[in-house]
Amino acid sequence: MLRRFWHCLFPMSDLGDTPRPFRLLGENIVVWKDAEGAPHAVQDRCPHKTAKLSLGYLQNGDIICPYHGWAFDGDGLCTLIPQELAPRERRVHVRAYHCAERYGQVWVCLDEPALDIPEVEPFNDPSFRQVFEFSEDWACSPLRIMENEFDAAHLSFVHATSFGNTDPIPALPAIEVLDDGFIARSQPAVRNPESMRSAIHMTSATTVRTTTGRYYVPFFRVTEIAYPNGLKNILVTALTPIDDRNTRFNQFVLRNDTEEQVSTAQVIAFDRKVTLEDKLILESTDPDVPLDASEDDEEHMASDRPGLLMRKKIRAFCDELRKAGDLGALLEVRLAGE
Ligand code: FES
Ligand SMILES: [Fe+2]
Repeated sequence: MLRRFWHCLFPMSDLGDTPRPFRLLGENIVVWKDAEGAPHAVQDRCPHKTAKLSLGYLQNGDIICPYHGWAFDGDGLCTLIPQELAPRERRVHVRAYHCAERYGQVWVCLDEPALDIPEVEPFNDPSFRQVFEFSEDWACSPLRIMENEFDAAHLSFVHATSFGNTDPIPALPAIEVLDDGFIARSQPAVRNPESMRSAIHMTSATTVRTTTGRYYVPFFRVTEIAYPNGLKNILVTALTPIDDRNTRFNQFVLRNDTEEQVSTAQVIAFDRKVTLEDKLILESTDPDVPLDASEDDEEHMASDRPGLLMRKKIRAFCDELRKAGDLGALLEVRLAGE
């Protein structure tokens, strides 16, 4: 099912003049930028003798296999076999994937996309600047990380030394359920310790975060945090499954303040501390997350509702796509029989 979704790999700035390998959903792929600067992704396996294309190099926008020099374009078509003078009747190709640039990041979908890349509206608003924060690997399931982003009860424990307040009873969000996810709105009271004050230009010891978190199936969220002084800090997080146990954690923020007010380094440092507090705990959790309540061996509480909704949404998409797949297979059988 996850092959039918767009996944964010890393910032475009990570693509230089060499090919870059990535492991997506257990599949080895290679990504590169063509002569016009557009990203492309193909299977990291040469159709000749299976060498890794990512060990090769780029020439005129094509990727060149390091073993015998076969060249492939962005659509995966072999454009040159240096050992053969006449072109072949049946073109050789390597499996190519949907690949796009969006929000300054590289996105790949391994199969026909079930949905578009989500629209992040403030991205086009000139009053916001974009700050890239991280693109790094966590030994954790993407769903555990996404559930944590909407888990109001962990703040007083995991973030006790940063912004979490001491009241263990969390402010529960109001949730609006949508086709491809949900919106969770809440106003948690948080601490504003000295070390964090400059990043939000507020000097009070506590504050309230007016939080609007949009979750998109399967592992994407846009959370706007509005402070009483008018600052908006929008966290955009794309979690990409590397394999069954590991996740590429991509995050950037959109902010309506300026570099002179709060430097990029300060913005990153603020979220870095908080994120590392989460990482320690999240990497200790089980990689498997039961989607089906009947197989569920976890206990839940009221604040787990957003996470449980994610499981339900993902399960619904699984069922829908499976049904569509079954229908497709059925039609193929019928057509073959006719
Ligand atoms: S293995 Fe790639 S060209 Fe031979
Ligand atoms: Fe957290």
